[in-house]
Amino acid sequence: MIELRGVSRRFVVAGGVVPALDGVDLSIAPGLLAVVLGPSGSGKTTLLNLIGALDRPSSGTVEIAGMRLTGASRQDLFSYRRHTVSFVFQAFNLFPELTAVENVRFGAEIAGVAGAGARADAVLAQVGLGERRHHYPHELSGGEQQRVAIARALATNNPVLLADEPTGELDFHTGIQILTLLREQAIAGRTVVVVTHNRQIARAADLVISLGSGRVLSVAPPSGGAVAPAELSW
Ligand SMILES: Nc1ncnc2c1ncn2[C@@H]1O[C@H](COP(=O)(O)OP(=O)(O)OP(=O)(O)O)[C@@H](O)[C@H]1O
Ligand SMILES: [Mg+2]
Repeated sequence: MIELRGVSRRFVVAGGVVPALDGVDLSIAPGLLAVVLGPSGSGKTTLLNLIGALDRPSSGTVEIAGMRLTGASRQDLFSYRRHTVSFVFQAFNLFPELTAVENVRFGAEIAGVAGAGARADAVLAQVGLGERRHHYPHELSGGEQQRVAIARALATNNPVLLADEPTGELDFHTGIQILTLLREQAIAGRTVVVVTHNRQIARAADLVISLGSGRVLSVAPPSGGAVAPAELSW
């Protein structure tokens, strides 16, 4: 489902070149919950951006769901972003002029989901924000905004779900609820890639990808296999 071969991403800055990713080879099969671990600056967001076609590699190839992103036409990439990937951004990226439910409905409509309005109501209830759905982002706490961003991704039927620190703003109990929802997405056949600093979350993954200084240090299931999110504690 997700195939990266020899992928590097170099950023040219005033002081020189930053190798954000350096020779990354990675395969993630459909229906897996993969967790990407690594210190700040190790290339996690850069990796998600390449998988999501929000950025392109300096070298190497990225192939997702049978489509080779490197060299794809603008039109194919446009369609890919709408119908293949859904993103939960590290900084949420909610539209400030839209309410919670409007943000979620808009995301679903762009992805071509039928009955987007009803779907938006349903997923907001799933993330515990049914009562807050008519609030604007600035009227919501950080954790509530994060859950709107998660709901927006869950409201699509896209087969790849990318989430950058999706529990960063959440208390333990809410974090477990969100991980349970993400696990359900994988069970339903979506490929879910979660970036986190939280090593405990990696215990609930099918595959743990460790990044360090732009390189893949290891790719393996957690020792002892994936545990249910409800069994985690931190
Ligand atoms: N647009 C850019 N221009 C220059 N350098 C960049 C750019 N984006 C990322 N970098 C650099 O690439 C490296 C990897 O950044 P990235 O955002 O992928 O890290 P990260 O693992 O997501 O970190 P964090 O955990 O803090 O979110 C960092 O050294 C960062 O400074
Ligand atoms: Mg990041």
